[in-house]
Amino acid sequence: MPADEVELVQNTWNQVKTKEVDILYAIFKAYPDIQARFPMFAGKSLDTVKGTSAFALHASRIVNFFSQYISLLGSEGSQPAIKTMLNQMGQKHKNRGVPKQQFNEFETAVMSYMKSHVTWNANLEKAWGDAFDKMYSVIFTNL
Ligand code: HEM
Repeated sequence: MPADEVELVQNTWNQVKTKEVDILYAIFKAYPDIQARFPMFAGKSLDTVKGTSAFALHASRIVNFFSQYISLLGSEGSQPAIKTMLNQMGQKHKNRGVPKQQFNEFETAVMSYMKSHVTWNANLEKAWGDAFDKMYSVIFTNL
């Protein structure tokens, strides 16, 4: 990805990355079918599970994964490391039976969260779209 796009993604991610629980809540709220895939959250009220330590733990795992990916986007020679982390994640999610459609829902929910929590513009839309495309181009080969 071009350096200016990486910088836009990094700057905006830094503004939301401490809101892990809020982000996961927004994803489950928009797409209850994603929540339903988690044995520990399935069939439970979202507002109840939101305050649990299991929820906080999973939220921080997802956010840490993004943080790692986004930080690698900006370092030289990191393509192999990016591929490895995405392939591993893709394999684990294939084993859980997560379809591409749910990954796309996840992207829609995260983009919508970003748009409402940072000052948004067309350059950010493009940069974030490219970051997801790059991520999913590897993950999807595993599903
Ligand atoms: C783990 C489902 C997308 C990152 C998990 C687990 C489930 C799951 C059921 C296991 C939780 C546990 O037992 O502790 C899904 C579903 C998705 C999705 C239904 C649909 C969109 C994503 C995305 C990311 C992600 C887009 C990151 C970009 C992780 C990480 C873990 C995890 C880092 C913990 C490590 C692992 O066990 O794989 N996911 N996931 N997931 N997910 Fe997802």
